Amino acid sequence: MTMLELERVVKHYHAGGEPVRAVDGVSLGVEAGEMVALHGPSGSGKTTLLLLIAALLAPEEGSIRFDGRELSRMSENEACDYLHRDVGFVYQNPQLMPRVSALENASMKLLVGGLGTRAAKARTLPWLRRVGLEQTLERTPEQLSGGERQRVAIARALAGEPRLILADEPTGNLDSARGGEIVELLASVAHEHDAAVLLVTHDLEAASIADRRFTLRDGRLTECPLAAETKSQSVPHPHSVTARG
Ligand SMILES: Nc1ncnc2c1ncn2[C@@H]1O[C@H](COP(=O)(O)OP(=O)(O)O)[C@@H](O)[C@H]1O
Ligand SMILES: [Mg+2]
Repeated sequence: MTMLELERVVKHYHAGGEPVRAVDGVSLGVEAGEMVALHGPSGSGKTTLLLLIAALLAPEEGSIRFDGRELSRMSENEACDYLHRDVGFVYQNPQLMPRVSALENASMKLLVGGLGTRAAKARTLPWLRRVGLEQTLERTPEQLSGGERQRVAIARALAGEPRLILADEPTGNLDSARGGEIVELLASVAHEHDAAVLLVTHDLEAASIADRRFTLRDGRLTECPLAAETKSQSVPHPHSVTARG
């Protein structure tokens, strides 16, 4: 079964005058084990689409199903469980808890989910290593750079091993080498852990690592042709990828 299925999804915003059709009839299926990249200009509806998939917004029209379950039919509790357990969301402007260590920040979802401190930290540590933050576990957000804070947020999203990862421009604050490592990490999470990854990015090079690519423009989605030879070179071999340094 396709893990995530969107059918003719429409979302309007009504901010004063004319309604904005932020997402305008998007249909898309994402399978377990693949990374799909979405790129498009600012204002094209990328963030709105991720918020709809996370059930943080409700569409006016169309259907969004996760494992065959229609999101709009979930109770508030079910939607909350879905977001908490099944989804790992890397927000465009991730917020960390001030004055709390990187390790505790990255463990936060597991702690809130009821896991004990020791177990939560033990599960989080390998993810902080994979984003290259093993040297800065005890630093607080105030002591970290913007890129390091972003990597803490990525580790926090991945630590619960969610089945669906929604990453909204996760490499926005990173230099291109570090950004490339993060995108490869997300691809390896899809390929090794059988997660579905939806990666929103401005960066065409990052998008080229994905298994499939789409462009969003004025809320409408089109699939980009796949350059098979580029793809086979850039998809990392499962198990071979770890973030360096
Ligand atoms: N809360 C909101 N209220 C009104 N309009 C919004 C809101 N959020 C986004 N928009 C509008 O919806 C469109 C899509 O925005 P967004 O999903 O943030 O695009 P992107 O992430 O691709 O930059 C834009 O025209 C934006 O101005
Ligand atoms: Mg956005």
